[in-house]
Amino acid sequence: MAMRRAKISVIGAGNIGGECARSIAMKELGDVVLVDIQNKDKPELHMPRGKAIDLACCGPVEKFDARITGTFDYADIAGSDVVIVTAGVPRKPGQSRDDLVAINAGIVKNVAQNIKQHAPDAHVIVVSNPLDAMVYVMWKVTGFPANRVMGQAGALDVARYKTFLAWELGVSVEDIQGLLLGGHGDDMVPLPRLTSVNGIPVQDLLPAAKIQACVDRAKVGGGEVVKLMGTSAWYAPSAGTIEMVEAIVRDKKRVIPCAAYCTKEFGVADANGGKGLFVGVPCVLGANGVERVITFQMNAEERKFMDESISHVKDLIGATVKLFPELA
Ligand code: LAC
Repeated sequence: MAMRRAKISVIGAGNIGGECARSIAMKELGDVVLVDIQNKDKPELHMPRGKAIDLACCGPVEKFDARITGTFDYADIAGSDVVIVTAGVPRKPGQSRDDLVAINAGIVKNVAQNIKQHAPDAHVIVVSNPLDAMVYVMWKVTGFPANRVMGQAGALDVARYKTFLAWELGVSVEDIQGLLLGGHGDDMVPLPRLTSVNGIPVQDLLPAAKIQACVDRAKVGGGEVVKLMGTSAWYAPSAGTIEMVEAIVRDKKRVIPCAAYCTKEFGVADANGGKGLFVGVPCVLGANGVERVITFQMNAEERKFMDESISHVKDLIGATVKLFPELA
């Protein structure tokens, strides 16, 4: 049998793209193709190639084998098993993710056309913001089946939620189990009712106000970092993305919250005028991408928060379609 390493392309060689490439190599998940566009003002530069060489030279020290290519040419993504899309502008202090829609929708649309043309069999993980709308753009433009188009947000948001809880509880982050639903906005829906320390309900271990403080901090976790750094986070967003990549290339059937296409799941279509929508829900991720969405009974309060989050995602897609009517 001919064996080959997985091929993972990363579109956008910025902070998140570079860190994703590094993690893929370190975990030996596959070969990496790092793609970006040429800087028109400085045509002598080749950022993706520079990053690729720099990263490849970690191999002897970190003991990984991976071919790492940096390119301006989308033809190099041909045959990718997974394409990660980080292209677009990051947030600046004072901006919400939604403020990026006008510029990033056009960028993601162009990226999607290239993926459709050059890597028609790939699984696509979108990271660009505003996340839920950008996943929609990717799906609409590529026409790929919904199991192969997903957004990375829940993996990051739940990691933030677990981190803050672990700090509060003084236990290992590894021992926190938690779940989160909804869009990648400040109205995301962490679920304390379903959060535990190795099965012990967190509600038995912390007062409600302390749990709520962790929920609230997770919701604005991206914004907290933007304020401190003047640009968006990249370590944790990349970690969340690579958790998804690993689940797919190793066919692990991990249960990870992702932005996935839903219709009747979690009442999405009911809250969205009968139509489907990409929103954060627990998914089984394996060799076939989003193999399944796992549903469960929400209580009245969770239902209310989820409906609000769905309504926000709906508005965001409305704003995107206003800019690009062909995406309706
Ligand atoms: C964040 C950005 C990447 O939440 O959406 O940090």
